[in-house]
Amino acid sequence: MPLVPKHIQELQSYKPGQNIAEVKHKLGLNKIIKLASNENPFGPSPLALKAVQNTLQDNFRYPDAAAMLLREKLADKFDLKLSNVTVGAGSEGVMSAIMRTFLRQGDEIIGAENSFIGFRVLANCSGISTYWAPLKEYHHDLDAMVVYITDYTKLIYLANPDNPTGTYFTVKEFDRFMEQVPDRVLVILDEAYFEYADHLDDYPDSMHYRYDNVITLRTFSKAHGLAGFRAGYGFAHEGLIENLLKVKLPFEPSWPAQIAAMAALEDHAYIEKTVKSCHRGKKQMEIAFNDMNIEYIPSAANFITLVFNNFEEAESLNDSMLHKGIILRHLAGWGLPECVRVTIGTDEENEYLLECLSYILSQA
Ligand SMILES: Cc1ncc(COP(=O)(O)O)c(C=O)c1O
Repeated sequence: MPLVPKHIQELQSYKPGQNIAEVKHKLGLNKIIKLASNENPFGPSPLALKAVQNTLQDNFRYPDAAAMLLREKLADKFDLKLSNVTVGAGSEGVMSAIMRTFLRQGDEIIGAENSFIGFRVLANCSGISTYWAPLKEYHHDLDAMVVYITDYTKLIYLANPDNPTGTYFTVKEFDRFMEQVPDRVLVILDEAYFEYADHLDDYPDSMHYRYDNVITLRTFSKAHGLAGFRAGYGFAHEGLIENLLKVKLPFEPSWPAQIAAMAALEDHAYIEKTVKSCHRGKKQMEIAFNDMNIEYIPSAANFITLVFNNFEEAESLNDSMLHKGIILRHLAGWGLPECVRVTIGTDEENEYLLECLSYILSQA
């Protein structure tokens, strides 16, 4: 098709995880547990839900294009100026605006191989040259990433904690990395899972730094339970934000998403319950995986990635769990064919998952 640029023709379509309705229909099961997309198992923040329900009638109007109220709330909460905050339809919305704002033909992008696939899709769509540094034992290898920097490098993407490995890089690693990154290179620090990692002493929470060339990305999709609403945010130097705001789609996030996000920021009890439950579930899973001799990657996020000997073993486990009504994520599409990612669920879901896992392994 001559109308389509070559770099778009060569893209592979993103294959999303299976959804609950699809699996119910295909396998004729009544009850499905989805532990595939790192969502909050408790549903949306109740305060967010209530706020949205109370404002449904306002949605015949366009939302505030500058999302002032939400941006002000974020600035207050994180002790920043309004001019340091942008928002988007999910953090991927902000990511997309970053690509459109700062990249030009001839620039180069660096990221980590097997890291967040959403960024990889955007990078490949941009038509800009990309360089993917291999992971080291499922961790970002920041020293290796530095080696890829050239005079043309414009953007480096880091996810901390990373998805789908759940690993994180430390304060020491990040400091050493930033010492070697020229100021003319923009660094995206994607902290979609920071709420789950913030208790770690050596986690480099970007709020403790002030770099003019770093953009922090965060989201309401994970700990706040608002993935379907599509709201995310970014923090950076006002010179970067000013230009990002020119390029962002005027009415993203949608009005319900802005309302939900503002209320969710106040829902401290829900976040506390979410994070506590995740830590408890993760511990329970780690103990059980050790007992069952299942290899896994220690995770700082709300999921754990299991490591099998090869594609076939991972695929078979994923498939057997699906037939038990549990949707997990086989990571072949991330270039990790030996891995299956498991989102931490509610206590009840975790129990059922471990029961099924133990049964399936005993039959192998
Ligand atoms: C590391 C990472 N960044 C960003 C996102 C996207 O989040 P959002 O729903 O805010 O676009 C995800 C979602 O899985 C993620 O894992």
